[in-house]
Amino acid sequence: MSLQIKSFEEYQEIYKKSVEDPEGFWAGVADHFFWKKKWQNVLSWDFEKADIKWFEGGKLNITENCLDRHIYSLGDKPAIIWEPNDPEEAHRVLTYKQLLNKVEQFANVLKNNDIKKGDRVCIYLPMVPELAIAMLACARIGAIHTVVFGGFSARSIADRINDTDSKLVITADGGFRGTKTIELKNIVDDALEQTSSVEKVIVLTRTRTPVSMIKGRDVWWEDEVRKVETMGSPACPAEEMDAEDMLFVLYTSGSTGKPKGVVHTTGGYMVYTGYTFSNVFQYQPDEIYFCTADIGWITGHSYIVYGPLSQGATSLMFEGIPTYPDAGRFWDVVEKHKVNILYTAPTAIRSLMAFGDEYLEDKDLSSINKLGSVGEPINEEAWNWFNEKIGKSEAPIVDTWWQTENGGILISPLAGITPTKPSYAMLPLPGVQPALMDENGNELEGNDVSGNLCIKFPWPGMLRTTYGDHQRCIDTYFSAYPGKYFSEDGCLRDKEGHYRITGRVDDVLNVSGHRIGTAELEDAINMHADVVESAIVGYPHKIKGQGIYAYIIADNVERNEDELKQNILATVTRLIGPIAKPDIVQFVEDLPKTRSGKIMRRILRKIAENELDNLGDITTLLNPDVVENVIEGAKKYREKV
Ligand code: WT7
Repeated sequence: MSLQIKSFEEYQEIYKKSVEDPEGFWAGVADHFFWKKKWQNVLSWDFEKADIKWFEGGKLNITENCLDRHIYSLGDKPAIIWEPNDPEEAHRVLTYKQLLNKVEQFANVLKNNDIKKGDRVCIYLPMVPELAIAMLACARIGAIHTVVFGGFSARSIADRINDTDSKLVITADGGFRGTKTIELKNIVDDALEQTSSVEKVIVLTRTRTPVSMIKGRDVWWEDEVRKVETMGSPACPAEEMDAEDMLFVLYTSGSTGKPKGVVHTTGGYMVYTGYTFSNVFQYQPDEIYFCTADIGWITGHSYIVYGPLSQGATSLMFEGIPTYPDAGRFWDVVEKHKVNILYTAPTAIRSLMAFGDEYLEDKDLSSINKLGSVGEPINEEAWNWFNEKIGKSEAPIVDTWWQTENGGILISPLAGITPTKPSYAMLPLPGVQPALMDENGNELEGNDVSGNLCIKFPWPGMLRTTYGDHQRCIDTYFSAYPGKYFSEDGCLRDKEGHYRITGRVDDVLNVSGHRIGTAELEDAINMHADVVESAIVGYPHKIKGQGIYAYIIADNVERNEDELKQNILATVTRLIGPIAKPDIVQFVEDLPKTRSGKIMRRILRKIAENELDNLGDITTLLNPDVVENVIEGAKKYREKV
């Protein structure tokens, strides 16, 4: 059997087999990878206990699958093409041979710094090849990486270091993003004031921002590499890992104040990301594949690093932002590197669309043959623009639905193989068994139905636990619908059986494709000395998909409202990061509450959406008269948008 599905008929056949005999199906897929020792048992599972094991007894190292096994046939093929933030700076190409060499070298650096199998390593780096090298070097020796996105604050880093008990931090002096320089090392220094587990910090030189190197703790990446170079053999044998050994932890927001450490393990994650990469993008041997995500998010882990590399692909990594030096940058990158596959987010598409088509003029996009979208629902207008202007109506668009917890894509077209339709993620991938549930917990059978999206059978890429708190994993994902994984997304299945994701059904916002937990954000806002209480809701935002609307009860509003607002935003930046800053802040006297004292978010959401005609029943409120005040107040804030 070949790994890649080649026709719609074949998809239907394979899908059927994957449901009738999931273990046989996944064993066949796993045979396409390199195992040091074959597994004994394909799958054992118990969703009630969130106990899921794939390929038990199998021994492997994911880096041998991503690197070593390609060396003979693809050694001189580019593994990573890196495009810098500044178009004047030279780009870099790392062939598979060179990447393996650098990974082994840095793996030796890790060992030299006392990192062993099972140790946790926190990575806070800009989008440079060394980020992928650091992750792969961890995986090489069996250390568990936890990558923190560069837009998170010192406090967020500290929380993640403390939660995982990380021994080592890998960072850089700074990072370039458009015209800005982010002082990564200084932020790490602040974080380390609030932690005690970290023994060493390895600092990469990138921006030459002045940094304070602490004796005995901080070392330079370049010095450490030089040290291992003089030690002789650059090789670093790949640690033999159990299929269910932890590969990484990645934090994501949920309904409570504290982000969850989503845990992915080695064998299943490798098989799932490799299989889905190959099939969804229908990757062909010489294609250049460009995923615009940041590696700090799951999309970058699965579809810049592990998925493409396990398939011997050329993965283009971009340090900058879509609008620097101007809104034509993506298209410059596509033209310069002759990109064939472009995988990006609806927010980026909408924002570039808003800049106008003049940024597309004179850009040669003829290399593009497949397009992808991820992170949030893509509206029809953006889908059509992407299709017509970027794909010239000849490149199939894959609208890929999945989540941090899923490891890889669950519902999506296969490019050029299965049908597409604007705003639809379409059909489940082989091995994925979706179920739509009604509010009484019954599965909705047949077509033309909508409900809460669950998955009723395990797939190899799914999360195994939430770090340090298994009960939380059970409660969050496996309790609402016993025996099923609950995605917390709403979904409809149309008359043809095609799936359309309608958005989160919990209190989590999706802002520019990034998950923001309202509880976490409210906790941060409430930390400000003048804030009495706050409530966060989402509202439709033309570019970001969802904007963040904050209703805040505070003291001293009349003194200087704008200053207070700026101080509250600074508090959010300090506690979570700039990505969580509300778009609209409305100061209110009071919030609508139920008789039991719960904030009525439904009403606040309607006001934020400016849908005042159907506020629903407000007579049951403890304080119905505040609704008028909030509506009245909202007028003033809406005008400012
Ligand atoms: C949430 C997961 C793993 C992708 C990056 C975001 C939303 C994701 C789609 C899509 C509609 C989508 C869902 C999901 N989402 N992809 N194609 N269409 N919605 O990962 O931060 O874990 O967020 O993003 O609401 O639950 P994440």
